[in-house]
Amino acid sequence: QRIYVGVDLGGTSIKVGLCDEQGKLIQTYEGPTGTEHGPDFVLDRIVEYVHRIVDESPYEWEQVAGIGAGIAGFMDIPTGFVELSPNLGWRNVAVKKTLEEKLGKTVKIDNDANVAALGEAWGGAGRGIPNLVCYTLGTGVGGGIIINGKIYQGFNGMAGELGHMSVVPDIEAIACNCGQSGCLETVSSATGIVRMANDAKERGDRTSLALIEKITAKDVFDAAKSGDEVAVRIVNRAAYYIGKSMAAVAVTVNPQRFIIGGGVSKAGEILFNPIRETFRKLTPERAYTGVEIVPATLGNDAGVVGAAGLNLH
Ligand code: BGC
Ligand code: NA
Ligand code: ZN
Repeated sequence: QRIYVGVDLGGTSIKVGLCDEQGKLIQTYEGPTGTEHGPDFVLDRIVEYVHRIVDESPYEWEQVAGIGAGIAGFMDIPTGFVELSPNLGWRNVAVKKTLEEKLGKTVKIDNDANVAALGEAWGGAGRGIPNLVCYTLGTGVGGGIIINGKIYQGFNGMAGELGHMSVVPDIEAIACNCGQSGCLETVSSATGIVRMANDAKERGDRTSLALIEKITAKDVFDAAKSGDEVAVRIVNRAAYYIGKSMAAVAVTVNPQRFIIGGGVSKAGEILFNPIRETFRKLTPERAYTGVEIVPATLGNDAGVVGAAGLNLH
């Protein structure tokens, strides 16, 4: 029996998963990323976690037929060379080469959100849907475009970098970690939502959030759910720009389904309703009719399943 390992490198944790030949997830392991210690440290943790999950399984290292990893950032996908990771703070890291040297096996690399989109397409909210677009809302905003069941990479791997679609009008735009400004990520990521809440607090806006010392995105959603108007405005702003970006994607890619995953998507209807409303308002009828906007169903596992599957499908 052959087994496949998938790695999902996020800003706060590294997740690894073991899949069988059918792509079924058998086991997972999660540990801290240790981003603050730099790329060498993080890559060593990945190597450690990959060995650990195999050691703890009933399988042997020799049975590992493929390893795949989803990494947050801009990269040359075939060579697995990460040019810039806005949220890990990495520049020019030879991820594939380093992991292959340390693991002694071939490692396939792709963008974390591309890989999550693939996981959802195979076994999640996109099963049976050949053309779909996935958003991941977390520390950053990621995107993955699946066309005819495959990741669409574009000219140099930048297709699907939806978090860096410039959507906020210049006059309100703030700088993004990618070097541009007005990116979707600046308003619709967990980081962006928290920033907007802190701004409101500093301005002295009347909000229950002012009582919280260290505001999280979940605090903002909870406050919005209990009717806090400032929080509702922040959530609507985050949702509006996602819907607006989807309107652009709808007339570019014309996907049948949009899937939204990542920690922020757990907010539920309070986020999804204004996204759907904006999308409908800004999109030509033929590009929205029959198009659904749904939550991801693999949740936290989409990344490892998709990464393991880079060697399977
Ligand atoms: C990065 C993407 C990544 C996303 C989610 C963005 O800042 O540019 O490559 O997919 O964050 O992790
Ligand atoms: Na992507
Ligand atoms: Zn950006």
